[in-house]
Amino acid sequence: MLTAEEATDSGEAVASNPQTRRRETWGSRLAFVLAAAGSAIGLGNVWRFPYLVGKNGGAAFLIIYLAIVVLIGLPVMIAEVGLGRFTRRNPVGAFARAAPNSGWRVVGVLGVITGFGILSYYSVVAGWAIGYTLKAVTGAFATLTDPGQTGNLFEQFVGDAWTVLALHAVFMALTVAAVIGGVRRGIERWTLILMPALFLMLLLLVLRSLTLDGAGKGFTFYLQPDFSKVTGATFIAALGQALFSLSVGMGALITYGSYLSEREDVVIATASVCLLDTLAAFLAGLAIFPALFAVGLEPAQGAGLTFVVLPAIFHRIPFGGLFGTVFFVLLTVAALTSAISLLEVCVAYLTDEKRWTRKGACVLVGIVSFLLGIPAALSTGASPFFSQLPFLHVGYLDLMDTIFGNIALTLGALLLCLFVGWRWVPQDALKGVIEGSAYPGLGQHWLFLVRYVCPVAIGTILLQILMNLFVQG
Ligand code: TRP
Repeated sequence: MLTAEEATDSGEAVASNPQTRRRETWGSRLAFVLAAAGSAIGLGNVWRFPYLVGKNGGAAFLIIYLAIVVLIGLPVMIAEVGLGRFTRRNPVGAFARAAPNSGWRVVGVLGVITGFGILSYYSVVAGWAIGYTLKAVTGAFATLTDPGQTGNLFEQFVGDAWTVLALHAVFMALTVAAVIGGVRRGIERWTLILMPALFLMLLLLVLRSLTLDGAGKGFTFYLQPDFSKVTGATFIAALGQALFSLSVGMGALITYGSYLSEREDVVIATASVCLLDTLAAFLAGLAIFPALFAVGLEPAQGAGLTFVVLPAIFHRIPFGGLFGTVFFVLLTVAALTSAISLLEVCVAYLTDEKRWTRKGACVLVGIVSFLLGIPAALSTGASPFFSQLPFLHVGYLDLMDTIFGNIALTLGALLLCLFVGWRWVPQDALKGVIEGSAYPGLGQHWLFLVRYVCPVAIGTILLQILMNLFVQG
């Protein structure tokens, strides 16, 4: 039986295109929350957030980060999900429907391209996580206790073209396998298993880490509040991390929002996503730093932390081999649920706008994205050309991350706020957001944040990113 909303939606869609099938919706609010949290919780939570906290004043940074998530991250996320739910379209279709015959659909196009671009190299790094899971299982770290040794191992590993390409292919195939089943039978089914598993693994690692002798030093490094370290740069760092971590700015949440029922409360659903994302990031720090300091190693961030420093501790702690395996499975799962959302953006675009079948779209985007990722896989040693591009003097993977993961995402978030706050009809914007909400009065506060506070804050970050590029270049 059709519910009222589904009838309207399919009715409208049928009117504009006779072949349209009824759009799928999530089976429950939990499904949406876990899928969106799966998108948000990724490599950034594990390898960047903890280090930022430790280096920027511990608990002092944490308080600032929380305030930024609530005042800026959450409103932007609400805007994305609201736009998706109201229009029931992929990012391109969403902008086109909310502002017909305007140039704004370009922002949606930017989102789809960004998703596609990120997917290509995210899959390469996720492939490393699969490779390291296998290494941990087979005891490859057993004799290595020094970051110098694990550093060599990592260099060898990422410089081996066939291995990294094979793992990149495996990860991409997994992502395609999850998305091909559709919203309920694919994405929802996978995330309902993967996300609880992720939190369970995280808790297990936190318990191990905190119960080691000497864990206290790491705990102090991580959380000791130090307000003297708080400067303007602290706010910029917190804001940049919040936007990246919440996966806003490219329409992943427009797409996931387009499958959300009108009866759901967008504010509660998105607030839950923010909470889970922040919780996962916080726990990652508790899992990493106490263990690191317990064996007397120096903290780091990025790939160096997860693939070089951490492998050196596993065989210095009791049951380290087991916990090492759990850690890399966790990393793989975190990356997989993020990649699923990246692929779904492209697939939703092709099925909505170009009338492709889901299966065809998944397979084709998977293959092309794999191909686009090949230079990234070769840019960590296997190919001197891609490892150090002529004129630019950076590797291909870093270049892709700067263009898509940094500039395009921030620009996308800024344009989204300007669109929702200023261009979209306020009544529609409010309807998209407060329909189904128990607190409709919040809508006005949200609109204020999206109009004024978010664009100023995100614009500042964008300027900062561009200035850094300029200074470095
Ligand atoms: N949030 C992800 C992380 O923390 C990275 C990311 C940013 C992302 N934007 C995204 C993932 C969009 C999927 C979709 O690692």
